[in-house]
Amino acid sequence: MAEDPDVVSRRIARESLDRDDPTGWFEQLYSAAADGAAVVPWDRGTAHPLLIEWIDEADPDGAGKTALVVGAGTGWDAERIVDCGYDTTAFDISPTAIATAHRNHPDSKAHYMTADLLAPPADWHRAFDLVVEIYTVQALPIPVQPAAIIQVTELVAPGGTLLVIAAARADDEADEAVEGPPWPLTRAAIDSFTTPDLHLIQLSRSPSPVDPTINRWRAEYLRD
Ligand SMILES: C[S@@+](CC[C@H](N)C(=O)[O-])C[C@H]1O[C@@H](n2cnc3c(N)ncnc32)[C@H](O)[C@@H]1O
Repeated sequence: MAEDPDVVSRRIARESLDRDDPTGWFEQLYSAAADGAAVVPWDRGTAHPLLIEWIDEADPDGAGKTALVVGAGTGWDAERIVDCGYDTTAFDISPTAIATAHRNHPDSKAHYMTADLLAPPADWHRAFDLVVEIYTVQALPIPVQPAAIIQVTELVAPGGTLLVIAAARADDEADEAVEGPPWPLTRAAIDSFTTPDLHLIQLSRSPSPVDPTINRWRAEYLRD
């Protein structure tokens, strides 16, 4: 009998993390899912509800502006950003995720590409009017998160906006107590996206309608 796809997903992640390879499992997982042997647990087939909420509230006009979607997976969030008028780039470390995004959205105006947040292309430095980061940092082990957070912040152009959506963890919950992935972000981690010229201008913490025991941050930052 075929193995339960959920079990396969967890095993792929655990084996990669045990090899001290914090990002290798994403390609393995997307590739196994493309073959029907695993499921990608975060692949919702639609934009994240908190991204939709932010767009409804902020009503951003992306005409003449650029956007970057970090860890874009199979492209559902990027497509929503394209709909706001942004010239949108969306990247993921997994080539199979990007191939699936192309397949899901064959007529897309987004520029989908494979890239590593931990070593992004030099010409992305402070280049994007809007940067959208949803659930990528929390998918990385806690010791890797500070470097990933710095890289996210360095993608935001002067005058640009950063939107971060992440699962929330209490500040007093010890790192060692978290059995990731994912490794949800503390308020201190949310604050660590700020720099002298990148300010936290809006923050909400709300329970997931699907599982009210999970809280999610929606944080918006603005660069001077
Ligand atoms: C938990 S998933 C979230 C995907 C998507 N943002 C969403 O919310 O549905 C994390 C994504 O980040 C990608 N990822 C992980 N590490 C990355 C890195 N260093 N650079 C780029 N993408 C990365 C994974 O392949 C995966 O698609």
